[in-house]
Amino acid sequence: MYPLFEIPSVGGPMLIASIATFHILPSHVATGAFWMAYFIERKSINENRPELMEFLKRFTLSILIFCFVTGSLTGVGIWYSATVISPRAISGLIHNYVWGWATEWVFFIIEIVTIYVYFYTFGKVSNKTHLRIGLLYALAAWISMVIITGILGFMMTPGKWLTTGGFFDGFFNETYWPQLFTRTSMMFAIAGAYAAVVAGTLKDGGRDTIRKIAGRWGLGGIIAGALFTLWYYTKLPANALENIQQIAYTSMMLKVSLVIGVVMALYFLLLAFGKGGFVSPVVGILMMVVLFAGIGGGESVREIARRPYLIPGYMYSNQIIGHDMAAKGVSSEVEKFNSEGLLTNYPFIPEDLRVITADNYLKAGEVITKLECVACHTMEAGGRNSLADLEAGLTAAGIVTDILDDLASSYMPPFVGTEIEKRAAAAYMSDILLGGEATDADWVVNGD
Ligand code: HEC
Repeated sequence: MYPLFEIPSVGGPMLIASIATFHILPSHVATGAFWMAYFIERKSINENRPELMEFLKRFTLSILIFCFVTGSLTGVGIWYSATVISPRAISGLIHNYVWGWATEWVFFIIEIVTIYVYFYTFGKVSNKTHLRIGLLYALAAWISMVIITGILGFMMTPGKWLTTGGFFDGFFNETYWPQLFTRTSMMFAIAGAYAAVVAGTLKDGGRDTIRKIAGRWGLGGIIAGALFTLWYYTKLPANALENIQQIAYTSMMLKVSLVIGVVMALYFLLLAFGKGGFVSPVVGILMMVVLFAGIGGGESVREIARRPYLIPGYMYSNQIIGHDMAAKGVSSEVEKFNSEGLLTNYPFIPEDLRVITADNYLKAGEVITKLECVACHTMEAGGRNSLADLEAGLTAAGIVTDILDDLASSYMPPFVGTEIEKRAAAAYMSDILLGGEATDADWVVNGD
């Protein structure tokens, strides 16, 4: 069956989320760190402090190893996991933004080349040239963020793209600027937390100066980031804000990220203005883990807020196209699937499941349920947002009337398919998932 990739108990979206959340650490360190490095290198030259240069060597090498290895592994990991879990959404993204990605990769290449040149030319070229190489890296890295933010934001608020289909209409969407400013601020905070880890490994001189700089940049970044996040929230559509309040998981994640934001701000305050006795790699790494949890919270709120869509106003979370997109010549699938059937029209459905019979209804029901629900639910009891748990105690008929007929609340897409497909899905859920009594095949096939 295509295209369906299921991870029992945990759920596919959790896989993308964990890879993508981790990716934020190396990617934001890589974009933020060299603005700080530029500042520190100038200080080192102007105040004649060679020990700061020693820090920069260590900082750059660790970024080369940590950010470039884990960043590229997780970056590719996001592509792989998102492609198997949401192939139709990724296809939509590529068809619209292939030149956006191409531009982005040009800047990645500049980044990779300049960081190597920077590292291997310490002490070998004039101060001015070395500073310029660092600045070139910082700019290229930040421009890659300028590009990727447009494409990411498109998946949340596609803006005028929905009517025009234009590249820049989707790119400069309503959340573009607040998101760019938030990420730009947060890259300084994340780079600050990272610099504090490296500062902890220094023995003398530089250590105190660096942890103070890291603390100040971190504090400034996190305060600005919080303000821009508020601005971002004012640009979200009303249903996104409702989702955040209504879905228990999201409202909890929002609280987690707020609390961690405050904890990180206090940490940066201590780094910047405290005595600094606590600065060590262990404390630094611990705080990076705390920061990671906060990023996970904030990013999952952002991702889940767009439900029931992957591309709001166009494609539902389960990849069924929910609305016409005249500019691209794409029509909504909802009406067609409701009248002619999902199984008849969906690609790569096994031929013997196209028509539901008394023999195949459970297998057909499984396909329908998974195609429509697995984007947000796991099947088995005890799993994440598990259907077996949420529907416990219901019969197939109850599932049809209480759940499937009434699915389209603010965070779930409507059930799409014919009445017989609806009954087959309900029978699958009741018989197999809930261990309910075997549903009467005649009821499934004929409705009585
Ligand atoms: C876009 C994501 C999404 C899709 C697709 C989705 N659901 Fe849900 N569903 C949710 C969320 C989120 C909740 C609420 C969980 C919470 O509040 O913790 C939920 C809750 C439920 C509940 C609990 C009762 C209720 O109405 O809140 C049931 C039952 C349910 N879903 C069934 C289904 C079935 C069956 C499908 C497929 C036909 C489906 N869902 C598809 C996101 C989704």
